[in-house]
Amino acid sequence: ERVWSDVASLTPDRVGQSVLVRARVHNVRGKGKSCFLVLRQATATVQAAMFVDDQTVSKGMVKYASALPRESIVDVEGKLAAPAAPVEGCSQSQVELHVTAIHCVSRSAVLPFEVTDAARSAEAVKKAAEAGEVLPTVGQDVRLDNRFIDLRTPANQAIFRVQSAVCQLFRESLQGEGFIEIHTPKLLAGASEGGAAVFRFDYMGRPGCLAQSPQFYKQMAICSDLGRVFEIGPVFRAENSYTHRHLCEFTGLDMEMTVNESYHEVLDVLDRLFVHMFQGLNERCARELAVIGEQFPYEPLKFLPKSLRLTFAEGIQMLQEAGYDVDPFGDLNTELERALGKLVKEKYNTEFYMLHRYPLAIRPFYTMPCKDDPRYSCSFDIFIRGEEIISGAQRIHDPALLTERAEALGLPVETIQSYLDSFKYGAPPHGGCGVGLERVVMLFCGLDNIRKTSMFPRDPKRLEP
Ligand code: 4AD
Repeated sequence: ERVWSDVASLTPDRVGQSVLVRARVHNVRGKGKSCFLVLRQATATVQAAMFVDDQTVSKGMVKYASALPRESIVDVEGKLAAPAAPVEGCSQSQVELHVTAIHCVSRSAVLPFEVTDAARSAEAVKKAAEAGEVLPTVGQDVRLDNRFIDLRTPANQAIFRVQSAVCQLFRESLQGEGFIEIHTPKLLAGASEGGAAVFRFDYMGRPGCLAQSPQFYKQMAICSDLGRVFEIGPVFRAENSYTHRHLCEFTGLDMEMTVNESYHEVLDVLDRLFVHMFQGLNERCARELAVIGEQFPYEPLKFLPKSLRLTFAEGIQMLQEAGYDVDPFGDLNTELERALGKLVKEKYNTEFYMLHRYPLAIRPFYTMPCKDDPRYSCSFDIFIRGEEIISGAQRIHDPALLTERAEALGLPVETIQSYLDSFKYGAPPHGGCGVGLERVVMLFCGLDNIRKTSMFPRDPKRLEP
């Protein structure tokens, strides 16, 4: 029986053992009677050496190995040895595999670019340039056209492990607070977040929409007495804006819960959730975060043990005092959000904060107006490094007011009638929010583009791969 080993498990205590690994050919150098390969599994690498001898390694075998294309998958058998000096550039630098047999399982075609070129940091390129050397780089479009290769770089391997951990921590925290995970339909009759950014299609002969959020259905779950619910699922937005933070399909982390007094109960849950998430990422993903930082250097996120809450009016005041010309009842554009993020960081030493009590006029129709001043709403946005990752609110649970608001904003009420009806039979006060997964990962890791944190991004120009 053959026993397989992971590359990451090849450590000095195993020197002398015979091992069998399946890995990619990360690099290969043939030198006549010998051949050195770097074998790679995800981010773990080890050197494998072959020397022509009279027994196991023939000249033909060395020639065969020397000609293997990079990124091919090979099965390699050999004995683990201690190298004369640590193998530079390999994660398993204290061992070397002396190959006795090698077999190509899947041969790579000619690569559109080298994985090592895609893995290079801008800093390394700059340093080399200063020394007069030109290092190849790979542009974003070429990477994304060949995302299945691009994903093999160490930083990308780490990014998607961090992404997985974000979902895990989100689940963990909410389940610990009595939330249950639900799954809502993505094929809908009407738009849930306004008509402009909706993908429409033909649903068996009548108009259908792709869900822009689980908004209506998580609220209906509350009306059905499910109490506290969350969902992790796809969200579709026909957003015709080509920016660093908009996708046409992203993953939404949504939650909704009953509230007794106010939306601050939702913010309390989110405060515990995100502190748990950030601490969890720093602890569980320390290695991945370091790997990402090697290619894309960044400062760790500053956050407080209890998150800062500012009212929208306080935010406006901070901006005004800093000399910005802002409309106290208008929306904040990207620049203003960033500027406020900077001011908040300077004053409160945090890059994670909550802004609440937004003007009602700039929020969706289902948002609850403030009782004391209906120009404002029981709503909030949450920011990382000056960019929005969350938007949420207490919702209107009175069916008459909800219908009135929908009509006032010119929504085609007939397409959302069943949603409006669900509040007629007793509806508890409730609130919740939607979190953009790709934005959380992008901003936590200080990355500059949301395409880096979407495995196969969809934007106005891209529907493949
Ligand atoms: O702000 P949005 O549109 O809010 C809603 O969907 C509401 N139903 C939420 C609620 O419960 N009130 O989206 C929520 C989050 C944003 O904060 C952002 O992180 C992300 O989803 N998001 C996008 N991410 C990538 N590409 C896009 N086009 C996004 N649009 C929103």
